[in-house]
Amino acid sequence: MNSLRPRVFSGVQPTGNLHLGNYLGAVSRFVPLQESFECIFCVVDMHAITVWQDPHELAHNTREVTAAFIAAGIDAKRHIVFNQSQVSAHAELAWVFNCVARLGWLNRMTQFKEKAGKDRENASVGLYAYPSLMAADILAYRATHVPVGEDQKQHLELARDIAQKFNNDFAETIAEAGYNDGFFPLTEPLIAGPATRVMSLRDGTKKMSKSDPSDLSRINLTDDADTIAKKIRKAKTDPEPLPSEAKGLESRPEASNLVGIYAALTDKPIADVLTEFGGAQFSGFKQALIDVAVEKLSPITGEMKRLMDDQSHIDTILAEGAQRARQIAAPIFAEVRKIVGFVG
Ligand code: TYM
Repeated sequence: MNSLRPRVFSGVQPTGNLHLGNYLGAVSRFVPLQESFECIFCVVDMHAITVWQDPHELAHNTREVTAAFIAAGIDAKRHIVFNQSQVSAHAELAWVFNCVARLGWLNRMTQFKEKAGKDRENASVGLYAYPSLMAADILAYRATHVPVGEDQKQHLELARDIAQKFNNDFAETIAEAGYNDGFFPLTEPLIAGPATRVMSLRDGTKKMSKSDPSDLSRINLTDDADTIAKKIRKAKTDPEPLPSEAKGLESRPEASNLVGIYAALTDKPIADVLTEFGGAQFSGFKQALIDVAVEKLSPITGEMKRLMDDQSHIDTILAEGAQRARQIAAPIFAEVRKIVGFVG
């Protein structure tokens, strides 16, 4: 298994506007990985429908996430960009994994608890089985590395547990098929940098999220410069000036969040940002943050708009990506069929 070639897989749900957390925690971090890995980036429309999606909006959002990938610098010619539902191996492998994963494991998933809320009985079965499909996304390509934000850590641990249990349960047929060291890799999460958990601009203890009812809580990748400026100006802060050392950010969630965002946008360590702004009032720091946010995000927003004007071009990217994804996944799933004992 160690001989598997390094391969990156990651997914983003088309469930509404992409926001700064998605960009800094995930999409922007995909870009440099293209230099050293073979990469597969997936718009996970099957994950999206685990909660109700208006069909027209789902289609629009699928194209918009694709546009965001391309606008952020993902090269769909050298790497693979596609939407999940076009490659049936995801659903097929997810079923096998549903039979490998244990109820007890899924019961521990905090994201299910958060999303299902109090009305658990009324949550979809898909929402519960979500992590099993996520493991299938990654392992359908035997991907070795998965860049994500901090909130996906538990799901990636589950993907490792599923891979491990599959390798153990089917050890005999895996060896018969000629694999000496298990079939599925124990995927490594890539969770790093100053923005693995970008928080709400209205409450530094809550994650920035697509589902927050307040649009002021997040910066969307579709926001124009004036909206970005307004949201940053209105962002919650505390009355103290900025500290000069990282220790001074402890128990100051809003300050810590804004400094982390600045660090990620400028690709500087937090310590350097604090050397520059230590002692400054938020008014000055916020203006600097507005400047870097607009400078970084406006070209992406503009390019997304341009790409969205040519829907057929986006659909072609997705169709070609899906075609290439199928070519990788098909022989892997054929091996899984043999290993499990499916005839034909
Ligand atoms: P999703 O669509 O919620 O988010 C996409 C990516 O953005 C990251 N992210 C954040 N990072 C930092 N701060 C935040 N506030 C923030 N909010 C979101 C997420 O961690 C993620 O990397 N289950 C996944 C999608 C998925 C997937 C996969 C990921 C499906 N299959 C296989 C990796 C591999 C999700 O719902 O991400």
